[in-house]
Amino acid sequence: MNRPSPLSPPPECPAHSPGAELLPLSAATGAPEPREVYRRLREQWGNVARVELEPGVPAWLVMGYRELLTITRQEQVFSRDARNWRDLNEGVVPPHSGLLPMMAWRANVIGADGPEHRRLRQPLDDGVARIDQRKARRQVQSVCTELIARFSQQGRADLVTDYATIVPMLSIASLFGLDSAEGQELLRALLALFGSAGDSQDGNRHFEEILVDALRRRQENPTDDLTTAFINHPNLRNESERIQSMAVMISSGTEGVNAWTSLTLRLMLTDPRFAARMHGGRLGVDDALDEALWRDPPMNNMPARYALRDTELGGRHIRRGDVLILGIAAANDDPAIRPDDTAGEPGNRAHLAFSAGPHVCPAQVPARLITRTAVNTVLHLLPDMRLAIPAEKVAWHPSPWTRIPVSLPVEFSAARIPALGSR
Ligand code: HEM
Repeated sequence: MNRPSPLSPPPECPAHSPGAELLPLSAATGAPEPREVYRRLREQWGNVARVELEPGVPAWLVMGYRELLTITRQEQVFSRDARNWRDLNEGVVPPHSGLLPMMAWRANVIGADGPEHRRLRQPLDDGVARIDQRKARRQVQSVCTELIARFSQQGRADLVTDYATIVPMLSIASLFGLDSAEGQELLRALLALFGSAGDSQDGNRHFEEILVDALRRRQENPTDDLTTAFINHPNLRNESERIQSMAVMISSGTEGVNAWTSLTLRLMLTDPRFAARMHGGRLGVDDALDEALWRDPPMNNMPARYALRDTELGGRHIRRGDVLILGIAAANDDPAIRPDDTAGEPGNRAHLAFSAGPHVCPAQVPARLITRTAVNTVLHLLPDMRLAIPAEKVAWHPSPWTRIPVSLPVEFSAARIPALGSR
């Protein structure tokens, strides 16, 4: 393939032809096969492509595996702090842009670089390392079983809205010592916060109130949960930093686990080769989870890094203040590391689904625990489950970032599932 030469865009380069149209990122995530879209983009641009986040807001999509490692590891050049984003500072991004819930700077671990990032990050790593995995697995299994029991007698369900959307919040909330009712409240508040129904301020306030309440209860009655771990951590200086740390874990985790669960179940229900390999015992659930992370990473594209100075990446001239998006799905499919796209090798976890560098996802172990338990439990309790619509009718929530099916309607033999405690 012809790669562009360093720093000199080819004459047909769309960034330099007036009026040339850039690919809107949500067109890739919403496509039936996003990898095809990224492959075409790579042919046109090489490993770093100019795309559009929303009308009039350009960005670089980093699609090369090596280039993605470069931007995530070199924080002295590629900052995580959105206050360095030129188009935001200069008003190119409108104040009510739908990009801001994901991209606006907040005083938390995600928006910090260097020593301040490490200070805020350590409590997350320490808290995750202390999770009692057997206890967590039992809690998640009980969440999953209760949810399946709600619809199992009907012989049909929507695995996205009745299951995959709810399991992550209730499970992550339980790691913080919150019960199922509080988890449901958090989920409603989070949906309002990220929704466009005008109640986002209320959602934000309510979300925080629930966390403040949990934190104060734990101050009186410490236990072995993540809330207590954050209260005791010397790096967190006050209540506000503890609440921010709880909020960032809960809100980052729910969408990722929802997508991972939905995408793995979708692969199993729609790809006959994949299902045959699982039924034939050639693929375990963990292998299936990895295969989903390679083929359909939950964060298809992840915001963002901001260039702190003019530089060069993948043959493109990056200007100070430019925004770069982590093209995770495209980088997983980079021909330089993945020459064929036949069935993946079981056990290979070199994918970039959890990113890399200092901001790499701190919760890979609990995320896998929750997703594995969610997938295993539904397969075990509803063994003859099948998709109720043709595979090509599965539609996607519009988003430049994630790829979550709108619904996965399934049918199965109706069954009464007793609560976990009564078995
Ligand atoms: C229990 C579930 C999860 C929790 C609590 C969680 C939490 C977090 C947090 C707090 C960060 C920011 C870390 C930092 O800035 O230092 C993060 C980053 C990240 N998470 Fe997770 N996460 C979860 C599940 C997932 C899943 C399922 C995925 C996708 C497979 C995922 C993908 C990522 C990615 C790509 C980043 C890095 C972003 C970057 O480099 O800028 N996470 N996660």
